[in-house]
Amino acid sequence: MRITVIGTGYLGAVHAACMAELGHDVLGVDTDEGKIAALAEGEAPFYEPGLADMLLRTVRTGKLRFTTSLADAASFGEVHFVCVGTPQLPGALGADLSHIEAVIDGLAPYVTRDCLVVGKSTVPVGTAARLAARLADRATEGVTANLAWNPEFLREGFAVNDTLRPGRLVVGVTSAADDAVLRAVYAQLLEVNTPYIVTDLATAELTKVAANSFLATKISFINAMANVCEAAGADVVTLADALGHDPRIGRGFLSAGLGFGGGCLGKDIRAFMARAAELGVADSVEFLHQVDAINSGRRKHAVELARDLAGGTFAGRNVAILGAAFKPETDDVRDSPALGVAVAILAEGANVRVHDPRALANARLAYPDLGYANEPEKACEDADVVLHLTEWQQYRELDPAMLLPVVRSPRMLDSRNVLPVGHWRASGWTVRSMGRANV
Ligand code: UGA
Repeated sequence: MRITVIGTGYLGAVHAACMAELGHDVLGVDTDEGKIAALAEGEAPFYEPGLADMLLRTVRTGKLRFTTSLADAASFGEVHFVCVGTPQLPGALGADLSHIEAVIDGLAPYVTRDCLVVGKSTVPVGTAARLAARLADRATEGVTANLAWNPEFLREGFAVNDTLRPGRLVVGVTSAADDAVLRAVYAQLLEVNTPYIVTDLATAELTKVAANSFLATKISFINAMANVCEAAGADVVTLADALGHDPRIGRGFLSAGLGFGGGCLGKDIRAFMARAAELGVADSVEFLHQVDAINSGRRKHAVELARDLAGGTFAGRNVAILGAAFKPETDDVRDSPALGVAVAILAEGANVRVHDPRALANARLAYPDLGYANEPEKACEDADVVLHLTEWQQYRELDPAMLLPVVRSPRMLDSRNVLPVGHWRASGWTVRSMGRANV
């Protein structure tokens, strides 16, 4: 099929490459000329395992092409996927829908053939219905331009796999014909029995927001338990393992530590609270305030634990930070818990040196005042305290004995609870964990 993917951020770039990989003829669209020029050469705009190869492959075969022109997109596509960002509004909880509205307004007048516009961005429930009316209003006379909603559940770091082998497909449609179009787009995934849920626009939009809210709640639940564990002398990792054996609970998203960050969970729960208030059901999602507060509390708690390890003050101390990305296997630093902690410690007068295997360039751009190092050992040189804040595999494999003579004082905070703490201690380190009183 002839598919356009509008927006080449994380979601758009991955979706475009994967649609081409599935055999469709794909045109990727973005207003950023530099980005489009690089993509047209097959260059991935960010680090995502498996994406660079796929981009290069699909660009070379001509299955994937790029443009900055919505007019070209309109004349090319039978299906238009809208993948632009919906960031948090500055100074408010709600989502900024201006990008998505601009796409609808920009595309509609050029549409000269019947087509289906499919929203993939995360939006407040009710947006799709509003955009459908806006699209119908602005489309050329005599042309049928319908709108469907098909939320995306991909995780950064696993985005290619999550798109080509999704756990489920959810489509919100207003007609059986639109459902048939989406079944044709995803025919290969349906052949391997991917669960396919057809529903209305509002339920489809809400599925995404509810999923992210549930995941955020699960993380904050276990982090609340981590606080209790520290107070009660218990171990949150064993607690999570024990809880996770109950299939009704499950072990996934029960890793306590520094809490969630990134471009999705935080902004999505806030936009959900804002939307629920508009709908008159603020009370029903009031608990999400607590989820958010528990989460930001983890960053503050990590700073306190680290200050304690540094001898009660950061003034003049050297602090090594392992990890800048908001989670491993990505170079994304949006709302990174690790950088949040780094900046707070810098503000208290420490010399902070940050290492990350992939995210240093983005971190430098976002926080030019922090110090950076290209190797973990360099970050740790003369450190009074080392903070393990993003759980890259590389850090799990560090040799504590080898690092011992590098630092000034062998003190470590393992905020992600994945280091072999016994081994570190046996090598002469003082190690604190988050939520593990006796480990
Ligand atoms: C999240 C959802 O998991 C995806 O399903 C969704 O499609 C995506 O948002 C989105 O809305 O686009 P992502 O932000 O890539 O995906 O990352 P997650 O794997 O969900 O991790 C989010 C944060 O939670 C990370 O900072 C991670 O370190 C933290 N986390 C995760 C924990 O602290 N504990 C856990 O047990 C799991």
